[in-house]
Amino acid sequence: MTAMWNMRAAAWVMLVMATTANAEEFAMVTGPYMNYPTQTSMVLRWETNQPGTTEYAVGIAAEKLEWQTGAPDATFHEAVLEDLEPGSFYFYKVRSTSPDGVTIESDTLTFQTAVTEDTPFSFAIFGDTQDSPEVVAKQAEHAYSQRPNFTVVVGDLVSNGEDKSHWVEHFFGNMQPLNQRVPLVPVLGNHERDSHFYYDYFSLPDPEYYYRLPYGNLELFIVDSERPLLRGSEQYKWLDEALGDSKATWKIVCLHRPAFSSDENDYGDTTMIRPAGGDFEMRFATELYEKHNVDLVWSGHIHSYERTHPINNGKPFIGKGVVYMITGGGGGHLEKAGPWRMPFTAKVYTGHHYCTVTIHGPKLRIEAYDLDGNLFDLYEMSK
Ligand SMILES: [Fe+2]
Ligand SMILES: [Fe+2]
Repeated sequence: MTAMWNMRAAAWVMLVMATTANAEEFAMVTGPYMNYPTQTSMVLRWETNQPGTTEYAVGIAAEKLEWQTGAPDATFHEAVLEDLEPGSFYFYKVRSTSPDGVTIESDTLTFQTAVTEDTPFSFAIFGDTQDSPEVVAKQAEHAYSQRPNFTVVVGDLVSNGEDKSHWVEHFFGNMQPLNQRVPLVPVLGNHERDSHFYYDYFSLPDPEYYYRLPYGNLELFIVDSERPLLRGSEQYKWLDEALGDSKATWKIVCLHRPAFSSDENDYGDTTMIRPAGGDFEMRFATELYEKHNVDLVWSGHIHSYERTHPINNGKPFIGKGVVYMITGGGGGHLEKAGPWRMPFTAKVYTGHHYCTVTIHGPKLRIEAYDLDGNLFDLYEMSK
């Protein structure tokens, strides 16, 4: 009797499991979002929970979108749009149909192609969104309210890059108001763990852990601070060549770990020992920044905000130098500065925040905002 009951119970459980699996509705689980904006191209991305078709429509009026078809059965969907007009405004939609005929379709959304060299533009930048979905949602809402041309997230987008739910539920789910209309420029941090999900979710020039992105009269150089950046390393050589080869008016390097930081305890407990002042492994590349006239280096990793004075040869310098920024207040647990003021420090701030960088020809302006919308730092540079 008991054995018979157990068999019936097991069969019932299997039936329920099968029904539940079949009942999972075909759905878009991430996106749509965009990568790698150029003057004439854009990459649309989205993900479905089951394989489906890749279809997308783009046009200059919401009522005149032309559908095109890509892969027949993808879960990570990608559409590379080409032959677009520079600095121009577009409408788009994406949709997918499952093998059993269920179709899901996005709203009609918008994007802008990269501007030409003589056009002003602005981008949003923050880091370490990690594991506070409610803060990330606020970041996305605040940053989008400034209508940036693109968004840079300087690493630690998620707390565990190997956990898919962190990408789907923590990052993409809450960044969507921003990501669906503003292209995302990602940077690898230590928490991504160089996971395949980073490479699955983003479409960037090979090898993807480093790449360059020209935009207007700016060029961004993205580096992975988890890979070696010592003299002679692959990334050091690439950065030397890429920076030397760039004709951009403004050069900005983005990498997760900061060369200079007054953080309390990431580089030794400053309540017990004298401060190291940042990550020494990141210091080797500072000679490249100085050699090639890099204007700004943006990092995260420290969950606070810091702006240095212009630095030359490791020291604060009056006149020309490289300014190092930390914007790590995107959602992770907050950190604060140690008890001393470092000679290189121009501004430190503890709290969740985001920044904007606005470039107009030879002028660049950094604004840093808390999540109540208060401006807490402002810095201008000119050529
Ligand atoms: Fe972090
Ligand atoms: Fe980090």
